[in-house]
Amino acid sequence: MAHPPNKSHGRISIAASAAPRDLMSGVSRLQGAWLARVITLFPDVFPGVLGASLTGKALSDGLWRLETTDLRLFGDGKHRNVDDTPAGGGAGMVLRADVMGKAIRHVQQNADHPLVFLSPRGKPFDQAMAQRFAAAPGLTLISGRFEGLDQRVIDHFEIEEVSLGDFVMTGGEIAAQAVIDATVRLLPGVIGNSASLEEESFSNGLLEHPQYTRPAVWEDREIPSVLTSGNHQEVSRWRQEEAERLTRDRRPDLWKARSED
Ligand SMILES: C[S@@+](CC[C@H](N)C(=O)[O-])C[C@H]1O[C@@H](n2cnc3c(N)ncnc32)[C@H](O)[C@@H]1O
Repeated sequence: MAHPPNKSHGRISIAASAAPRDLMSGVSRLQGAWLARVITLFPDVFPGVLGASLTGKALSDGLWRLETTDLRLFGDGKHRNVDDTPAGGGAGMVLRADVMGKAIRHVQQNADHPLVFLSPRGKPFDQAMAQRFAAAPGLTLISGRFEGLDQRVIDHFEIEEVSLGDFVMTGGEIAAQAVIDATVRLLPGVIGNSASLEEESFSNGLLEHPQYTRPAVWEDREIPSVLTSGNHQEVSRWRQEEAERLTRDRRPDLWKARSED
């Protein structure tokens, strides 16, 4: 094998100048940290955007871990084939059950980690799902390519299919990064101010109210005066009304679900 099937990202690097106590606390955080595993034909695109900003800092601080597994290394024969033509004919190629099965058995040693195949056919990903994944010790994601994955693997391992939305991408890697991003930001310590999580879209069944910041006037447009009034009760009321207005106008599905609760 050219390189090991699993590749870890963002482990804490041990600098010679670090004091022993710093290293101890860093390592213990890393060991128990939430673990994202991704089976993919393109391990090099990770951590990708997850390596930037808050998720990137949390990764290098050991608040969560990321392991990619190269599906190609479980491929068949000299050319490490991972796909074959669809049974029954038709366009494209399908990821083979035997190859993916080996990769899953290699990776999924923890039965308490949800096992997810990213697929446009799956249940739409939402905030409640991100909360469920964040509450588990980790998550294993299978990134598809070509026409998808042999159904027998999905059935055999009882894999949950999750979709990023009603559109078709070339592969599951972007979807995997989106799911991991939305989940990791819910882990304790990743977002400095946890109050911002409580107020944002979907946390209370509503879209978030509009946001403004300086300058006070831009292109003749002013910040709504209530937001600069200093009256916190009025600000809260305005935000709630705006959140409700936006949700009613843009997401009648959310609005209906909220009124049925
Ligand atoms: C070209 S797509 C396959 C589409 C499949 N033939 C279909 O019609 O449902 C290749 C891979 O990209 C990923 N993918 C594409 N769109 C996606 C979406 N909306 N959500 C999650 N994953 C997606 C999946 O892993 C999928 O197996």
